[in-house]
Amino acid sequence: MEIGVIGAGAMGSGIAQVASQSGCRVVLYDTNQAALDKSAASLEKVMRRLVEKERVDIKESNAIQSRISYVNNLQEFSGCALVIEAIVENADMKKSVFQQLENIVSPQTILASNTSSLSIASLASALTFPGRMIGIHFFNPAPLMPLVEIIPAISTEAVVTDAAKTIIDDWGKVTVLAKDTPGFIVNRIARPYYAEAVKMYDEGLSDPATIDWAMKSLGLFKMGPFELMDLIGHDVNYVVAETVWTQMYYDPRYRPSLTQKRMMEAGLLGRKSGRGFYDYREGAEKPEPTTDQTTGEMILHRILAMLINEAADAVFLNVASPKDIELAMTKGVNYPKGLLQWGDEIGVENILGILDDLHARFGDDRYRASAYLRDCAAVGHSLLTGK
Ligand SMILES: NC(=O)c1ccc[n+]([C@@H]2O[C@H](COP(=O)([O-])OP(=O)(O)OC[C@H]3O[C@@H](n4cnc5c(N)ncnc54)[C@H](O)[C@@H]3O)[C@@H](O)[C@H]2O)c1
Repeated sequence: MEIGVIGAGAMGSGIAQVASQSGCRVVLYDTNQAALDKSAASLEKVMRRLVEKERVDIKESNAIQSRISYVNNLQEFSGCALVIEAIVENADMKKSVFQQLENIVSPQTILASNTSSLSIASLASALTFPGRMIGIHFFNPAPLMPLVEIIPAISTEAVVTDAAKTIIDDWGKVTVLAKDTPGFIVNRIARPYYAEAVKMYDEGLSDPATIDWAMKSLGLFKMGPFELMDLIGHDVNYVVAETVWTQMYYDPRYRPSLTQKRMMEAGLLGRKSGRGFYDYREGAEKPEPTTDQTTGEMILHRILAMLINEAADAVFLNVASPKDIELAMTKGVNYPKGLLQWGDEIGVENILGILDDLHARFGDDRYRASAYLRDCAAVGHSLLTGK
């Protein structure tokens, strides 16, 4: 099978590698020759390392690299069964590429976007045949992250969804089906992990080191929210937060943090700029957390209650099935446990109690409990099974 990938940046290069490793021929296109050269050079480096670690042999490494053609002409996509676009996050530029592509590929070719924040329906509307368009959302780095969100738009034909899912499953990825709504599954449900952590810091309730300690030591998350924001970069993480909030018609549940915005504006972007919530410069000391169990549990339960509420509301609004929501958060952002199961274990009425207390105290609809959570608490049903 021949796969087309548009954009040879971080995501396009990773997606091309995944497809080639699965035996597909890949055509990788970019308007910038330097990006194509860089992509080929970094794949060569990755493959050399995998050969050194004896994860692939030389023959396989050569085959993986030779299956990818680096091209600067869209005409080369004429034989592709599926084309995945991963260019800059700009709707007009994406639409223009898809329109050019539709004149080149066969009527059966599936056209997909790796967009993180644009609606698939809006991209599909640029096509003569919008039914062939779907979202296929990989996580960074694509070769290592198992999760892929499959996002049919309102206009996507069912056969296109089935075919896209089958192809990505065959590449060894864990696929989940998501509704075409802001943030899809992971980038929607994960919002409070960052926002509620910064809000507690803004309130003076605790400091980044202590909040990170609570989430890691007591919650068993791999990284604390502040470490993770610093790693992702405040420019990237803040923009996702603001995009989800504005696309949700300014629902206070998704309201981002002014503190994070100011850090972005100041260029304190995290690890990549040497400073974020923590100082990464030479000789800087990492602050020590206050490891008080009671405070730690309060922090953990406040963030968890917000996350579980988001997962419950995603079930309520049919963003995805409960099973796919659990898979998305464990395979897409490495949460130690599915949030619905976690809510059941803590007790749905306990989660509701935390949210209602916060709602009463702050008078802020940010803490509005999902109707699904409230219903399950009222009748003693499980969030995971609804029974
Ligand atoms: N980086 C992430 O963590 C991440 C994760 C999931 C999804 N995404 C999405 O994937 C897409 C790509 O993100 P990225 O981080 O790889 O970006 P990037 O900036 O690393 O790469 C974008 C590439 O697209 C090329 N390009 C720009 N305009 C083009 C055009 N008209 N035709 C062909 N090539 C063009 C650029 O030269 C560049 O090489 C975006 O839609 C982004 O939202 C990113």
